[in-house]
Amino acid sequence: MANTVPIHDFSNVTELNEEQKRQLSELERAQGVASDAGYRIVAPQPTAKLLSGYTIPLVGLGTWKSAKGEVGAAVATALRAGYRHIDCARIYQNEHEVGEALAAVLAEGVVKREEVFITSKLWNTDHDPARVEAACRKSMEDLRVSYLDLYLMHWPVTGTPGPEVQPPLADTWAAMEQLVDKGLVRTIGVSNFSAKKLEALMARARIQPAVNQVEAHPYWRNEELRSWCAARGVHLTAYSPLGSPDSAAVIGRAADVPSPLKDETVAAVAAELGKSPAQVLIRWAVQRGTSVLPKSVNPQRIAANLEVLVGGWQLAPEQVARLDALPVQRRMVDGSFWVDARGPYRSTAELWDE
Ligand code: A2P
Repeated sequence: MANTVPIHDFSNVTELNEEQKRQLSELERAQGVASDAGYRIVAPQPTAKLLSGYTIPLVGLGTWKSAKGEVGAAVATALRAGYRHIDCARIYQNEHEVGEALAAVLAEGVVKREEVFITSKLWNTDHDPARVEAACRKSMEDLRVSYLDLYLMHWPVTGTPGPEVQPPLADTWAAMEQLVDKGLVRTIGVSNFSAKKLEALMARARIQPAVNQVEAHPYWRNEELRSWCAARGVHLTAYSPLGSPDSAAVIGRAADVPSPLKDETVAAVAAELGKSPAQVLIRWAVQRGTSVLPKSVNPQRIAANLEVLVGGWQLAPEQVARLDALPVQRRMVDGSFWVDARGPYRSTAELWDE
């Protein structure tokens, strides 16, 4: 169903007029999302307090690989289903449509901008300090927001071959600090950083990175990094919490890599609780105190994934222990696409400092 419905250009308006609302509901109807769907309020939601003083809702909607023509409906569905955290990035090439949906839902008046936590990320090719603000403003314009709740350095990678990362990560970080000074961004952080890279950045930082967004799920628990970050007050956000089943083709991972969604122990725990394997994986992340970004463009799955916060259920310590003992440990997003014989990362071991 991707790209079968034209996306209208709403980029010059801050609030949708009647005709634009009609177009958006047509788009949603075509995608099976009722535009007059009621709102579900899921409150209070678990949050984590960040070093910046702001709070981050623990469950957010992921938008990586959500196609144009689908992502807007997914975001609108999520906000109406009770999500208050949307994770975006410039490189996902869909922020404009996310912004359309966000504006449409905010215009309905039930959800307020300040209740929604919006993240975007600085792409590798925009690390030059002279480019950082423009990149951030482009994401803000596409997302139609006057501030971002969180802006992350997407990778410790710039694409410039050579022995050192060029421009240096600390220079890019200094430009990101200025985004906070200017009120464009409330909190800044990083993504895909090892403890070693984060420590080096923290030593140079005026404003400490408050978040490290990395892959985490029971097949890649990333526990050492999580506890290292926790000891320093850095919040960990878990991406690909379901094991990223739809990224194999995108990043060239073998299709037969085992999936936590199909794991026998996860299935057994799900059966014990009367929940789905995805809900067990998301709940596991929440109970670890991480925020977690399940991606979906399917209305039923979007709603079901937030159900982990409803009904007062939880994984028993014994069930958590079984998930914490799963022997398969491997990244689904291994960063091998950044390996370059000319440096700075000549192996994934150098990228992840392992
Ligand atoms: P879809 O978008 O069609 O729902 P991750 O969050 O680890 O990146 O995983 C995203 C993948 O998992 C997508 O392929 C998504 O498909 C699928 N997915 C999302 N929610 C569920 C769910 N509740 N059960 C099974 N698969 C899901």
